[in-house]
Order: sequence, then C-alpha cells, then structure tokens
Amino acid sequence: MKIGFYQFSPCFGEVPDNLDKILAALQGAQADLIVLPELPFTGYLFADRAELAGLAEDPKSSPTVEALVDLCRRQGFHLVTGFAEKYSDKIYNSSLLLGPSGIVDVYRKLHLFDREKLYFDPGDLPLRVNSVAGVKIGMMVCFDWIFPETCRVLALQGAEIICHPSNLVLNYCQQSMLTRALENAVFAVTANRTGEEKGLKFTGQSQIVAPRAELLHRAGVEEEILFVTEIDPAKARDKMITGRNDLFEDRRGEWYQQIINDEL
Ligand code: ACM
Repeated sequence: MKIGFYQFSPCFGEVPDNLDKILAALQGAQADLIVLPELPFTGYLFADRAELAGLAEDPKSSPTVEALVDLCRRQGFHLVTGFAEKYSDKIYNSSLLLGPSGIVDVYRKLHLFDREKLYFDPGDLPLRVNSVAGVKIGMMVCFDWIFPETCRVLALQGAEIICHPSNLVLNYCQQSMLTRALENAVFAVTANRTGEEKGLKFTGQSQIVAPRAELLHRAGVEEEILFVTEIDPAKARDKMITGRNDLFEDRRGEWYQQIINDEL
C-alpha cells in the first residue's frame, strides 16, 4: 500500500487558493492514501468564531470537498484532510476521509488546543475505523496525540494506520508519535503544516512512522513536499512485542480503572 502526506504552508483565509495548491501538488500522485494537514484550506489562527464561521463549510455542500472527491476519482486514491466543518449552528475542527465515492467518514477533534476552545465546538462523534483498500485506518487531529487513549481506542478497533492531520506548534509530538506507534503497533502518518500565522510558527517535520517506532521519513521544518512511501500494513497486525508479550492481550484493565473513572 502506498501512503503519504502533503506538507505545505496554507495562506490564511484563502480557501480557493489553498485548494488549488493542493490539487496541483497531488495531481498525478501515485498513492493509495494521502494525508493533508489540519485546517489546510482556511488556515489556523482565527480572530474569533465569526471569522471562523465565514470560512467553515458544510462538507455535504462544499465546493472544496467536491473538488477533492473529483481528484480522488481521477487518481483512484483516498484522502484524509483537516476541515473546518460547519454543521447546523456548530463548527468543528474535523478530519474527513474522502474517496472516489465521496465522503466516507468524518471525525471531529475531541481535544481542542489552546485558542481553538474559543471558537470551535468540541468533537461529538465516536472514534472509529474505516477500510481503505482492505486496510483499516483511524483518524485523529493534531493535539489528540497527547492523550494516548485516542490512538489506543483506534488501535483496539483494529486501526492499522493512524492518519493525523496537524498544525503543530509545540516541539513534542513528532518524537512522541514514535511511542504511539510502538505501544499500539500501528503505522502513523502525521501531516503537519509549515510557515507562520500572526507570529505563530508551525513546526513542519511531517512524518510516517512504522509499528516498531521506525521513522520511515520526516520532512524538513520549512519544506513543501508531497512524500509517498510503500508500506506493508500486515506489520500492524502483529501485536507481539516479544514471544510472550501481546500489546493488547497483556493489558491489565482491572488496574487501570482510574483512566476512565476519576471517582475511584
Ligand atoms: C494543535 O492541536 N493544532 C496544536
């Protein structure tokens, strides 16, 4: 299976221009699954909810989504992309799984980061996996990484590839995702952005990690790059870390109760 990411620097508020840039970069790409950054069409740092509302779209009636689905159809691949999602009177920091048949699934960021809490609604959909070319993929968005439960739940549902659209501004995630991949024996594609918005600098270094914490590729901080590599998803089905240690079977849930129940 060929998986990849596109790292670039979106221009704030320029939805059609950002879309054109993505369409041009991905045209002709030989891949099965490509991950784009968080909020790659709108940009990231909104002044307030009104500004976000003016840029967010309902995926079901979005020319942006329509153009991306057309691209999936022409290229025969699937995309995971960040998306400022308008739904009724709500606005979510979402991730869409798109394919030749249209919108396959929507994930809404559960753990909002910093100022995002001022203008986005928190996610209200369950973590779940979808099949792409027979491979199970799960979605999470940027700051979700710091809550290991997010990856764990996706992995327990059988996710073999974690798709992770991001707009990272702290320096912890890229290295930490090696551990997320190792502790769950999954592949992880972190698609980050580059550049700067109103003084906020994004860290780039998008990457693909294999189940044994193997860094298959990490992009530069500033480079704009489409990177695609071949992986064997079957490697994510082997949860044995030694001959006697199964990452999932060896869990001692009865001793972890406080993780889901603070009252204990
Ligand atoms: C982030 O969640 N965009 C840091």
